[in-house]
Amino acid sequence: MLKKFIIGVCAVFQTANCVISFQCSAAKGDINGDGFIDAVDATSVLMEYAGLSTTGQGNFTEIQNQLADVDGNNLIDAVDATGILSYYAYTSTGGTLAFEEWLSWNKAHEIQQIDGLTYIDGILIANKSYSLPETYNPEMNPETLRQFEVMQTAAANDGINIYFLDGYRSYDYQNQVYNNFVNWYGVEMADISAARAGHSEHQTGLAIDVNTDEYIFEGTPAALWIENHAHEYGFIVRYPKGKEDITGYKYEPWHIRYLGVEKAADVYNSCLTLEEYLGIDSYYH
Ligand code: DAL
Ligand code: ZN
Repeated sequence: MLKKFIIGVCAVFQTANCVISFQCSAAKGDINGDGFIDAVDATSVLMEYAGLSTTGQGNFTEIQNQLADVDGNNLIDAVDATGILSYYAYTSTGGTLAFEEWLSWNKAHEIQQIDGLTYIDGILIANKSYSLPETYNPEMNPETLRQFEVMQTAAANDGINIYFLDGYRSYDYQNQVYNNFVNWYGVEMADISAARAGHSEHQTGLAIDVNTDEYIFEGTPAALWIENHAHEYGFIVRYPKGKEDITGYKYEPWHIRYLGVEKAADVYNSCLTLEEYLGIDSYYH
């Protein structure tokens, strides 16, 4: 119930480009609400843990419980206190990641390589760091298409017109797309606008460009609807504003990536990019 409440607050205040993400995520760990995540917070968590262990009674408010449950296992314990203390050590030595981003970077992620594809925590990754084989040509993923149609209907019920602009692209077609950008704008601009062949999410069949891939789309009712609702249907806006250095691409309000409803909602509520969420980078090695 409490978790739902907090996520609800995040969702309500989350704006198109997630500017409230600091409040949304960084408050975790700051038990006394003084704006710092430090040894005082860690100590209060340890004391709460001691109280719970001995008397079974805690002193934390429900909100404090939520902030203190660093690892999200619904228990307040020494692991949470240690997490807070480690983060304090990290920031004290110049670390700049927000708490939840740092937690994600520290989390052990399961990496699987299957037939040249990389799955991290079960999510197929295509970015600048992780490529797809030239021969990988799955076409458009059927579940992604079905969910897109469900989303389209929901948007239409809200008076919003969402339509399919582009989805699956083969390796060769992506090569043309990228080379066109190079010819028009040069390599530097091309590399923040289009993926090189073998590095595009479009080749996975799990990505869709909606409506128009031009910046007139930004801030339109359709773009805002996508920003706020796509996760309910299993999609994330893959290249958010302000995260260009992390994703490796300019903001693309039209490009959505299918993850399934549960994972998409989790990524959305974290206010993290997929790279941050999975603890990976995106650059051409
Ligand atoms: N525009 C995105 C990054 C792509 O080309 O896949
Ligand atoms: Zn796209």
